[in-house]
Amino acid sequence: MLTVRTREELTAATRDLRGPSRKVCLVPTMGFLHEGHLSLVDRAHDLAETVVVSIFVNPLQFGPGEDLGTYPRDEARDLALLEARGTDVVFVPTVEEMYPAGDPQVTVSPGPMERRLCGAHRPGHFRGVLTVVAKLFGLVRPDVAVFGRKDFQQSVLIRRMARDLNLGVRVETGPIVRESDGLAMSSRNAYLSGPERTQAVGLHRALSATAALFGGGERRAAALLAAVEREIANHPLLSLQYAEVVEPEGLEAVNSASPGDVVALAAFCGTTRLIDNVELS
Ligand code: PAJ
Repeated sequence: MLTVRTREELTAATRDLRGPSRKVCLVPTMGFLHEGHLSLVDRAHDLAETVVVSIFVNPLQFGPGEDLGTYPRDEARDLALLEARGTDVVFVPTVEEMYPAGDPQVTVSPGPMERRLCGAHRPGHFRGVLTVVAKLFGLVRPDVAVFGRKDFQQSVLIRRMARDLNLGVRVETGPIVRESDGLAMSSRNAYLSGPERTQAVGLHRALSATAALFGGGERRAAALLAAVEREIANHPLLSLQYAEVVEPEGLEAVNSASPGDVVALAAFCGTTRLIDNVELS
């Protein structure tokens, strides 16, 4: 496994590892890796001969008062995990390497979907995500890139960016990987205290309750969301930021749910903001 830290080294490494019959797959991450990230690396190996993983805590996607300064990091552990999963190249740039001229003047606008779901509560977040992902696409020039369904709005926006801007990258999504009690794996779970960790499973329980209601024939979004609210209320350390039933293309809220629609939510567990979602089927 090659660990590279500069754009120059990255270009040289990927030049040597690509070819007419050697596709490149990129898995962008912010590090502090868990099985959710590593499942995307496994998926990348199924999709391409060369797997590139980036580890970069991107300041552009953090708002004022968010956790940029405390975001968990453990580069040595991350590199060992990636090596064990057969990663070919790991790109670990500094902020100066990614943004040599400071914050970029030209950024990627997420369009109307920016106002939906998490975007409504994190102004500028998705502009920061799309901008860094576009930069990573430009630096790595992957044939395919893999993102997790856990960050549902992010995966929809990145797929849309690749399509609308003809970036020449196929965007694939991998399923949500969960802890044994159902909590979606997240680097931010490291922030949870013991009692918070116990109650954090309420997000999954809320989504399971609403999915079961849908499975039983309930189609009214208001009833599906009431089930979410009831389950969250059973967990006093959780406070719901939003829950919505949306269609998966434009993320518009629906009044009557159909198979393929998604229930997405964000909740604070103590001071930690957690997200999760379920596709209705
Ligand atoms: P990060 O939160 O590190 O996540 C990196 C990738 O792992 C994302 O595609 C995310 O959806 C996926 N992922 C996280 N938890 C997962 C889980 N439990 N199951 C499956 N996949 C999971 O998302 C980001 O970083 C950043 O916004 C990034 C795209 C790297 C841009 O900075």
